[in-house]
Amino acid sequence: MTSAAAPLLLMTPGPTRVPERVLRAGARPMIHHRTREFSAELATVVELLKPVFGTEAPVLPVHTTGRGALEAAICNFLSIGDEIAVCCNGKFGEMWAGFAESYGIIVHRICTDWTREVDVMDVARALETHPKICAVALTYSDTSTGVSNDIATVARTIRAVRPDVLVLVDGVSSIGGMPFAFDSWGVDFAATASQKCLMSSPGLSFVALSDRAWTATSRAKLPRNYWDFAAIQKEISKECPETPGTPPVDIVLQIAEALRLMHEEGLERVYQRHAQMAERARNGAAELGLALQCPNFGSFSTTLTAIAAPAGVAPKELRNGMRVRGVLTAGGLGKYADTSFRIGHMGDIRMADVDRTLVALAETLAELRVAR
Ligand SMILES: Cc1ncc(COP(=O)(O)O)c(C=O)c1O
Repeated sequence: MTSAAAPLLLMTPGPTRVPERVLRAGARPMIHHRTREFSAELATVVELLKPVFGTEAPVLPVHTTGRGALEAAICNFLSIGDEIAVCCNGKFGEMWAGFAESYGIIVHRICTDWTREVDVMDVARALETHPKICAVALTYSDTSTGVSNDIATVARTIRAVRPDVLVLVDGVSSIGGMPFAFDSWGVDFAATASQKCLMSSPGLSFVALSDRAWTATSRAKLPRNYWDFAAIQKEISKECPETPGTPPVDIVLQIAEALRLMHEEGLERVYQRHAQMAERARNGAAELGLALQCPNFGSFSTTLTAIAAPAGVAPKELRNGMRVRGVLTAGGLGKYADTSFRIGHMGDIRMADVDRTLVALAETLAELRVAR
């Protein structure tokens, strides 16, 4: 068991552990955001994020957590009365729908089964049935279930039927930990946030936009100020890049260092490490006699694993037992709040951390005398 004073091992799907080098990068004396020194760091961030998003387009910083970046997409691309389809196969898919509706967008909910990945046929049918749909929103890894939706196939299907329809992707718990190919998959908007795969403090998001998305921003009539993508683009494109208003300087410095770390490891290796950890987490759960929360996905996210608590055991009891052993996991979300728990294995998390988590889980199960 770990002493109460030792920091908990954060096996949560965000915020995730911030590596020492990244912590130090953000802990230096404050630098002013209108200086060449800060611009250089911001330029580094934007440049090093391009391969992470898989794009040649500039990646924009948005001073907000992931939710803000997604809400910003609604404001920047749409107008009241516009129709969109939202793939709601998880809490975060549903979140897209809620944000859009709150702005007066007509939402067609599709793929609402939380136990399945997005079905491209449902997407194609929605586009045929509702010809006014101008965007399809979905989540790459839905953090509530651990599904990985096949963005490439969905985007290809949309392009084949309606080339003008925007493909909007929530990559908050995936981009940086799972391969993403914004340009070649034909995505129009994608967002990620600082506190997950980018292993930094919460408070900053990043978005990528296609040419189609930029055209949509000039048509969209919803008001936006703080997170107006065109205003951010104007500042970030200066010879010495800046942001509108004051950015969270320390997080920008952290992200620059985190991206250097990721590129030193090599992005392919980073993705491979995540895939290996996910496999270990799934196999480890099975060896302990535990079922996955949604065992029937064709494709699982590699950044988290959602596990069903054994019959008669409250997930809270399991999580408490693991916390006493120094490991913090996350509760189930939405309809799984009372039946499952989630292990995050993203960003700086390594195989040894997954193994330590599985040991804590095994000990807790034994303590609770869960029959195997
Ligand atoms: C897939 C997904 N989308 C959006 C969000 C919201 O991000 P934030 O908490 O940074 O606002 C989260 C947070 O867990 C997430 O996992």
